[in-house]
Amino acid sequence: MISMKTISSNLKKLASILSDHQYHSGTEIGDELGLTRSGVWKLVKQLEMLGITIESVTNKGYRLTQSLDFLVKTKMTKHISSSNLKLLAELMVYDEVTSTNDLLVAYAKQHKGKNAACLAEQQTAGRGRLGRQWISPFAANIYFSLLWHFDCDISELGGLNIVVGVSVAQAIFVATTAKNIKLKWPNDIYWQDRKLGGILIDIVGEFSGGCATAIGIGINVNMPQSHADQIQKPWTDLDTASGQTVDRNKLAGILLDKLITNLGVFQRKGIAEFINAWNDLDYLSGRETSVKSIATIVTGIAQGINEQGHLLLKMRDGTVTAITTGDASIHYHG
Ligand code: BTN
Repeated sequence: MISMKTISSNLKKLASILSDHQYHSGTEIGDELGLTRSGVWKLVKQLEMLGITIESVTNKGYRLTQSLDFLVKTKMTKHISSSNLKLLAELMVYDEVTSTNDLLVAYAKQHKGKNAACLAEQQTAGRGRLGRQWISPFAANIYFSLLWHFDCDISELGGLNIVVGVSVAQAIFVATTAKNIKLKWPNDIYWQDRKLGGILIDIVGEFSGGCATAIGIGINVNMPQSHADQIQKPWTDLDTASGQTVDRNKLAGILLDKLITNLGVFQRKGIAEFINAWNDLDYLSGRETSVKSIATIVTGIAQGINEQGHLLLKMRDGTVTAITTGDASIHYHG
């Protein structure tokens, strides 16, 4: 079941009062929010339930140890060109959804032919590839989906993951000071051998002369330690990769703008325009790589991608095989 929730405005106000890293007493907060001290205490507990760490010191009060900057639509749209914005029927921002991809898949059924974007502060059933869970704590990262309609057959969308991956890397380079962001075929964003983000593309439907997809992107921005243990593989976040506190609104706006522009180019010209960019960002290039699919594992030295966006692997006998799908991992030596 798809669901979305709005957290109370008092909770958001409390978070912004505490965001200055100074201590605020229960009485001071209560005066500002029109609550008793025990009302403030209850609100603090609710914020903690969302995974936010609050320091509480007797005779001083409460304060947040991390920065909290909520997603705000107008702060995102500043970074989106008006021509791109016009291509969206809606830009939705929620406090809590099950999954932004699932929400847009349901939206597509009720709003035929409309493009829309959705961001959320938190996902309660965030999905990764291959049925994995995507850890989605509150107000920490980017959970973003774009519902997009193409005037072509699904069979012509091979390489969409390449275009989306390049768009994510380009957006990160524009919005932050992070360098050496890499793309790991087919759908991962990497920094220093650690996963920074991932892409999940759902086919929403086919209709005469076209098809629609929900393009889901998760980017770790400021992953709280409280959730780190739930992530199985080596991971990192953008605050670490860039050495700065990343502005999620700016990143989300630039990402949406880049993506809409690049999807237009992809629709007109195919993936040819993106192959060089991918190969420059390719994490696997020159590395011994194994690609696992349902029935097979193929191992070879990665050689970039071909014009269909398939991974090229040089085999032991010198031949090059194009891999269409699977989960890639590199072999570490020494
Ligand atoms: C992966 O690397 O396995 C893909 C992760 C994709 C996560 C994003 S977060 C926004 C969107 N909604 C989801 O439920 N999943 C994608």
